[in-house]
Amino acid sequence: MRENNKPTAITSVLHEKRVFPPTKGFSSRAHIKSLAQYRKLYNESIKSPDRFWAKQAKNELTWFKPWKKVLQWKEPFVRWFVGGQLNVSHNCLDRWLDTLTANKAALIWEGEPATDGKPGEERVLTYKQLHREVCRFANVLKRNGVHKGDRVLIYLPMVPEAAIAMLGCARIGAVHSVVFGGFSAQSVADRVFDSQAKLIVTADGGFRRGTVIPLKKNVDEALTLKAANGDLLAKSVEKVIVLRRANNEVHIAEGRDVWWHRELDYVDAECAAERMDSEAPLFILYTSGSTGKPKGILHTTGGYLLGVKLTHKYVFDIQDADVYWCTADVGWVTGHSYVVYGPLANGATSLMYEGAPNWPEPDRFWRIVAKYGVTVLYTAPTAIRAFMKWGTEWPGKHDLSSLRLLGTVGEPINPEAWIWYHETIGGKRCPIVDTWWQTETGGIMITPLPGAIATKPGSATLPFFGVVPEVVDDEGKPVPRNTGGKLVIRKPWPSMLRGIWGDPRRYKEVYWSEVKRSYFTGDGCRQDADGYYWIVGRIDDVLNVAGHRIGTAEVESALVSNQKVAEAAVVGRPDELKGQALVAFVTLKSGVKPDHAIRDELRQHVAKEIGPVARPDDIRFAETLPKTRSGKIMRRLLKQIASGTEIKGDTTTLEDFSVLAKLAQSEE
Ligand code: PRX
Repeated sequence: MRENNKPTAITSVLHEKRVFPPTKGFSSRAHIKSLAQYRKLYNESIKSPDRFWAKQAKNELTWFKPWKKVLQWKEPFVRWFVGGQLNVSHNCLDRWLDTLTANKAALIWEGEPATDGKPGEERVLTYKQLHREVCRFANVLKRNGVHKGDRVLIYLPMVPEAAIAMLGCARIGAVHSVVFGGFSAQSVADRVFDSQAKLIVTADGGFRRGTVIPLKKNVDEALTLKAANGDLLAKSVEKVIVLRRANNEVHIAEGRDVWWHRELDYVDAECAAERMDSEAPLFILYTSGSTGKPKGILHTTGGYLLGVKLTHKYVFDIQDADVYWCTADVGWVTGHSYVVYGPLANGATSLMYEGAPNWPEPDRFWRIVAKYGVTVLYTAPTAIRAFMKWGTEWPGKHDLSSLRLLGTVGEPINPEAWIWYHETIGGKRCPIVDTWWQTETGGIMITPLPGAIATKPGSATLPFFGVVPEVVDDEGKPVPRNTGGKLVIRKPWPSMLRGIWGDPRRYKEVYWSEVKRSYFTGDGCRQDADGYYWIVGRIDDVLNVAGHRIGTAEVESALVSNQKVAEAAVVGRPDELKGQALVAFVTLKSGVKPDHAIRDELRQHVAKEIGPVARPDDIRFAETLPKTRSGKIMRRLLKQIASGTEIKGDTTTLEDFSVLAKLAQSEE
């Protein structure tokens, strides 16, 4: 952390007093029916973790070979179910083939409506069909030289093939790294370089709000980008598999690029699942941290799968007849854990939607809920705030009575949005599970269990089984109730990250050095008198913009990579819709005049370097940036200026006082 910022409390949350107990009707049918039952299981999971997790792993997963030891903990490195062997794809697919689930819908996919007004395409894949497609694609991967342990980068739109590609990798023991389709060619190249991926799976294009995102073109460009030493960043890539989706024109490089559909002609549907070590890498997912370089978060096989299966089952109280819809893209961890792995490991029906919530009209989600009879909906607070803004007439047009449970993830939810979600979407009958977790935690960590735990709008409530959170001060000592502090996790849990790909030192430094003998989450938190956790947001240099995690340093390094920029500092300011907005303070090189054109150019530049998600909302120019005597940019001050709040605190360490006044005055 560059500065020790105290978390800023959201006042409306501090005064929130409403409590929503689980309804009798819900609890009586739920997996976990009462607070007492939750507490009993939770206590077991903490007091005898080995016994608790051994029982869960045995009941929930199919193992090729049993483990010798449940947990091996040598801080900060953990191993779960040591010596055990299993396969994730086998547990998500083959496991169901001899059961009634075989012919149940595994994936329901709804495509984006076409621009000519035609309704979106629709596809349903049963467990049997999905198994077949995964086996065929796994054979395509093998045919193209992918072996156990090789890395495969997946850069696809939200189509069933994204799940097929992930499961295909898991089946043969290849390690996938999914890159969100909204990221740029540069981001693809950087991730290939870091993971040394051998193969890329992409599509010609993907649809988004009626336009085509040229994914293959981005891959082509990524393959030409060079590192500072002149070497190609993506030189490890030998093959590119291209899915035909948008029918846009693409270049096919002979010998390197192959079409997905053509490759299928050469393979059969027989592909045994590899026996994987419980600790074998399953995937790497890049996420932003407080440095300029995204971190490759590594998740492994047994612990991850058990964690996502169990949380999915209990948090969403999954029942056989549910139509479960998590609206996240597979490019984020939520898509990995709660669109693909968690639901399929539970034999559930998982709905995937390709497009945007307001395309072609703002009732798109509600149309889908009504069309498929969605029972469980899991989405982000930003989406909920957007729906509130668009008006109740849109959900009002559709029958939402199939819904029985709602969830949120990705950022703090303000009580107003929570209540709106509860009343307007949930018809006051659906419990809301506000789930706190991170890319690093693999699965949900702090959350209500809907039949057991009373909810409070804005609080993620209590820890899931095996999770020991604590709110501590700068010295690592627990703070009293109702006091803000840092959120840490005291004990290892099965789905926790195993490291940062290729960088064990950084893993130790980032997560295990801030607070002794604890995993540091980077979030600020407060526990109330009932022991409920209220997450206030990041206290490091990571922003949460519309539920997307963005490192300020990453945006800064993108800005300074522009020839005209001398220096840049990026901070967040509160935003009614997106939670936080990105504000960049930029010092231009001498001779370059600040004007609208350069502002646009810089915003575009960041979109090109990282992706449109990281494009600054505001750019403010300054002659110099305020710094401490040791040369650190005073972010606290910039944050106050960006938010338009008064400048408070000690400013005497400023090198240049005049700069303050200028910054405060500089207009957007
Ligand atoms: O700040 C927290 C916020 O999102 C961060 C994790 O982001 P990411 O790794 O991209 O994963 C997002 C999906 C799990 C956290 O450090 N966050 C996530 N869920 C919540 C939340 N903040 C408050 N309440 C939540 N329910």
